[in-house]
Amino acid sequence: MTTDRLESLMRFHPFTRLNKLLESVQAGGGNTPLALSVGEPQFAPPAMVARLIHEQAPLWGKYPLPTGTEPFRQAVAGWLTRRFRLPDDMVDPARHVMPVTGTREALFHIALSAVPEVGPGEEKPVVLMPNPFYHVYAGAAAAAGAEPYFLNATGENSFLPEIAAIPEAILKRTALAYICSPSNPQGAVAPLSYLCDWLALARRHNFVLASDECYSEIYRGTPPHGALEAARDLGGQNPASLDNLIIFHSLSKRSSGAGMRSGFVAGEARLIQRQAQLINFGGVATPYPILAAATELWQDEEHVQGYRAKYIENFNAAQDALEDIFGEVRAEGGFFLWLDVGDGEAAAQALWQHAAIRVLPGGYMARPDANGMNPGQRYIRVALVLEPAEMSAALKRMAPVLERVVDQQRKAQERAKMV
Ligand SMILES: Cc1ncc(COP(=O)(O)O)c(C=O)c1O
Repeated sequence: MTTDRLESLMRFHPFTRLNKLLESVQAGGGNTPLALSVGEPQFAPPAMVARLIHEQAPLWGKYPLPTGTEPFRQAVAGWLTRRFRLPDDMVDPARHVMPVTGTREALFHIALSAVPEVGPGEEKPVVLMPNPFYHVYAGAAAAAGAEPYFLNATGENSFLPEIAAIPEAILKRTALAYICSPSNPQGAVAPLSYLCDWLALARRHNFVLASDECYSEIYRGTPPHGALEAARDLGGQNPASLDNLIIFHSLSKRSSGAGMRSGFVAGEARLIQRQAQLINFGGVATPYPILAAATELWQDEEHVQGYRAKYIENFNAAQDALEDIFGEVRAEGGFFLWLDVGDGEAAAQALWQHAAIRVLPGGYMARPDANGMNPGQRYIRVALVLEPAEMSAALKRMAPVLERVVDQQRKAQERAKMV
């Protein structure tokens, strides 16, 4: 029997499912429709981007190399060293860093690189991922012919999947694990000890640890840790080994530059080399003018601080608008609200119908577990990506609708208990 990998995947594409959910619902309330379903910052990108790309215009004529330019790799290595307080010689710009055209493609490619071919009758390799998760992880696992293994991230484990709960038989088959901190959708920030435990596990079982850190610069308190710090602290060699580790960073969130399609991967030299090989066969290398702008952006923190302040304002506005319904709503990192509304689909429909606001039902980012429980089903994800004045107005528009939905859900639950 043959199976169509892409077909089975598309059934789970969150935004296709959202379009279907809302297609027969009229956007209501006489309001201008707003999309808070997608994690796309709506702030103006830094002015320097347009200037730098313009200055480099002659380079549009050149095929770029997958490995980028030396100034780019040096800027990234410098940023990583400063940001994560690494020893100067730990990240070698020539071997440990490579640009990517956004991290989505690179997160996809790492599965193609890490998952081995198996012989007839052999069990499929496993790819571990949190549940809920960024949909690309599952897409990549399926395309690579692996079996995804979902690790529930719930309120009970502070949205950090429990490493100790992974069965030994699964670890034996694991080729790759995706982790994400600050996490999408919940904004949970992993302690350094948690990242160390993952890296130690990856080395013990010789799988690749893919640490998705694209929200690392959006936080409310102290800067989130990164997995390179785990490599530093596990030590073992001098300079510290990057074995089994690859990390993913992006300008899409940090620099409000989603349309630039620019990020980087860093980690074990062999893994970086393989990512470059995949670009040579079926990917896109970052164009030189974009790379020139990205090189400057990784050396500038001022614009990042400005965006961070806006997200803090947006979280505070959310707290003001929604506290009476949900209590504390502010996440430690990232820019999403993750709200327990009882039934995510019902809430998404109500918000579209009564406030013309699109949000993502949490269940669309997750899969049912062995007990049939979908850990995202009760939630909606709301992207706080508008300018603060607009965001505050949108949150005020959402609050009465959400209050009604939550109230209805509570009453329905009480009725169910009485039956
Ligand atoms: C968790 C996570 N990882 C990676 C990405 C990919 O971002 P980009 O391809 O723009 O770098 C996103 C984008 O929404 C995301 O939410």
